[in-house]
Amino acid sequence: MLSSTIISFALCIFKSLLESDALVVPSVSGDESSFKGFAFTAHVKPKFNDQSANNNSSVTLTNEGDMEYLGQVNVGGQDFTLVLDTGSSDLWVHSTTKINITSTTDRYINLTYGIGSAAGNVSYAPVTFGGYSIDSQALLNVNKTDQQDVQGIFGLGFNSLSAIFTEVNDLQARTPVDSIFAQHPSTSKFIGLSLERTANQEDTAGGVLSVGEYDPQYSNISTSEKHPILPANSTRWTIALDGMNVNGNNLQMKSNVSSQENSSAIALIDSGTSLAYIPTDAVNAIYNSINGSVHVQTASGQDSWFVPCFGQANLTFVFGEETFAINPLELTYPLTISEGGKPYTVCMSTFRPPLFTDGTVEVDFLLGDIFMRNVYSVFNFGNSSSGDDGKGASIQFFSRTNREQVASDFTKQRKENLQSMPPLFDISKLHSNGSLGDSSQIMSQLSGDEESNV
Ligand SMILES: *[C@@H]1O[C@H](CO)[C@@H](O)[C@H](O)[C@H]1NC(C)=O
Ligand SMILES: *[C@@H]1O[C@H](CO)[C@@H](O)[C@H](O)[C@H]1NC(C)=O
Ligand SMILES: *[C@@H]1O[C@H](CO)[C@@H](O)[C@H](O)[C@H]1NC(C)=O
Ligand SMILES: *[C@@H]1O[C@H](CO)[C@@H](O)[C@H](O)[C@H]1NC(C)=O
Ligand SMILES: *[C@@H]1O[C@H](CO)[C@@H](O)[C@H](O)[C@H]1NC(C)=O
Ligand SMILES: *[C@@H]1O[C@H](CO)[C@@H](O)[C@H](O)[C@H]1NC(C)=O
Ligand SMILES: *[C@@H]1O[C@H](CO)[C@@H](O)[C@H](O)[C@H]1NC(C)=O
Ligand SMILES: *[C@@H]1O[C@H](CO)[C@@H](O)[C@H](O)[C@H]1NC(C)=O
Ligand SMILES: *[C@@H]1O[C@H](CO)[C@@H](O)[C@H](O)[C@H]1NC(C)=O
Ligand SMILES: *[C@@H]1O[C@H](CO)[C@@H](O)[C@H](O)[C@H]1NC(C)=O
Ligand SMILES: *[C@@H]1O[C@H](CO)[C@@H](O)[C@H](O)[C@H]1NC(C)=O
Ligand SMILES: *[C@@H]1O[C@H](CO)[C@@H](O)[C@H](O)[C@H]1NC(C)=O
Repeated sequence: MLSSTIISFALCIFKSLLESDALVVPSVSGDESSFKGFAFTAHVKPKFNDQSANNNSSVTLTNEGDMEYLGQVNVGGQDFTLVLDTGSSDLWVHSTTKINITSTTDRYINLTYGIGSAAGNVSYAPVTFGGYSIDSQALLNVNKTDQQDVQGIFGLGFNSLSAIFTEVNDLQARTPVDSIFAQHPSTSKFIGLSLERTANQEDTAGGVLSVGEYDPQYSNISTSEKHPILPANSTRWTIALDGMNVNGNNLQMKSNVSSQENSSAIALIDSGTSLAYIPTDAVNAIYNSINGSVHVQTASGQDSWFVPCFGQANLTFVFGEETFAINPLELTYPLTISEGGKPYTVCMSTFRPPLFTDGTVEVDFLLGDIFMRNVYSVFNFGNSSSGDDGKGASIQFFSRTNREQVASDFTKQRKENLQSMPPLFDISKLHSNGSLGDSSQIMSQLSGDEESNV
């Protein structure tokens, strides 16, 4: 998620806990036993849902909110369940009992997020998570939060995005991940991230994060292409996307990001976003390729596709010389709606038009979990010792999706998943403005559907 916009913490009653037993932690055995991967679980972030549902003419969406990842972190002798966030860079905890700090300062910082804030003094304390430990980590020992109902946040971004680092202006106040690199100079400066699927393959259950070591299952990623952070001054994990291909047809890439040349687009790789937000022509290329899809645009600006649940397309993304296949399950998302007082299942598009089109464009393609579940990702930090670890940074991918395999498994898996859901809704009855033949408004409950943390 983007740091300026981490929303919804105020609403953090985890009403949609995903099956945590579906979390697949890589088995570590034999000479791979030194791998210290840090397992985390995924939760759907609660969102504002219109409660006036159950109306004859309106659709009730099940939750398709963005993901939030939670991991156990020990700070100053106490265990906390913290939000892991690649879009911010500060560590803070809010404890009712005193944590064991090694030292404290009189720097009082108020970290503000998209919604809410957390304030406290900069302190130093020992931190351990997974198999990693830091003797003395700078953090905010928070004594006051505003609309932040979590125990704390563990930021995984660059030093240059850290408010604590910027305020203290001393390498001692580096981010937790950079602290591990500094404490163990032989550690390679990267984090590896794998998102694991739920048992029905349609969602993210959780995953494993590692610092300075590859997950042994995917160690071949060391030879994958390094995609440099672009534009060069970006403070986010953004890289060039060189192509997108639907059923063998290439879509011409171009960028609206000012400093970017036209033959590639800028893609933000963001595990905090569940879906993907891509240029309109790219969305249309995907869903136009699936027979029977209905494009719905309403006066209020909603723009989605209703897609036959068994419709599939071969979608790939091209980064440099590398091509990554996307599992057809990612292209649509089965939801329960109600129409005429009865429940039905519809499959909605997951690749959506951009959330914002006004103002300066920093990203052309926002690729969330529906891309990231198909790869193992390594985020390489830059090598600067001055704290500017965004300079020289890059991303590497290793494909986890076999194109032929997922194309042939899709129908069986989707069929299995739909068995526990209401009957399919006949989307051919839908008009392109979202109304049905009898003019009842099916889209009325979809507002808020595209809320995001961006
Ligand atoms: C149906 O929707 C209308 C208009 O949005 C609302 O006034 C009414 O209360 C709803 N009915 C039910 C049963 O929720
Ligand atoms: C706090 O630190 C003291 C001194 O090092 C130690 O004796 C104590 O066990 C620590 N408490 C916790 C909760 O870690
Ligand atoms: C926190 O900082 C304030 C000044 O901003 C200072 O007055 C206070 O003593 C500090 N608290 C601790 C525990 O150091
Ligand atoms: C939090 O700590 C600051 C700095 O010491 C202090 O000014 C403030 O009153 C404290 N707030 C609460 C709610 O304890
Ligand atoms: C942080 O600052 C904002 C804006 O100045 C304020 O509304 C908020 O209450 C502050 N947060 C805390 C935890 O003090
Ligand atoms: C990893 O690399 C080795 C040596 O290049 C190769 O033999 C092996 O097939 C690769 N494994 C995968 C999963 O790509
Ligand atoms: C990067 O540089 C471009 C052009 O020089 C500028 O428009 C943009 O605002 C800069 N971006 C950041 C994040 O500083
Ligand atoms: C660039 O902006 C134009 C006009 O707003 C829009 O139609 C187009 O889809 C955008 N292209 C990309 C790659 O975002
Ligand atoms: C990108 O394309 C636009 C419109 O086609 C053109 O005005 C601009 O000069 C191009 N930029 C580059 C760097 O080629
Ligand atoms: C889609 O429909 C067209 C015309 O109705 C047909 O020619 C084509 O074979 C269909 N494609 C698929 C993949 O079913
Ligand atoms: C909902 O629709 C059904 C069938 O169209 C109708 O019988 C029923 O009276 C309606 N209920 C309400 C509350 O409008
Ligand atoms: C997608 O790829 C699979 C495997 O290569 C192939 O069997 C299938 O025909 C392709 N589907 C389309 C719509 O191109």
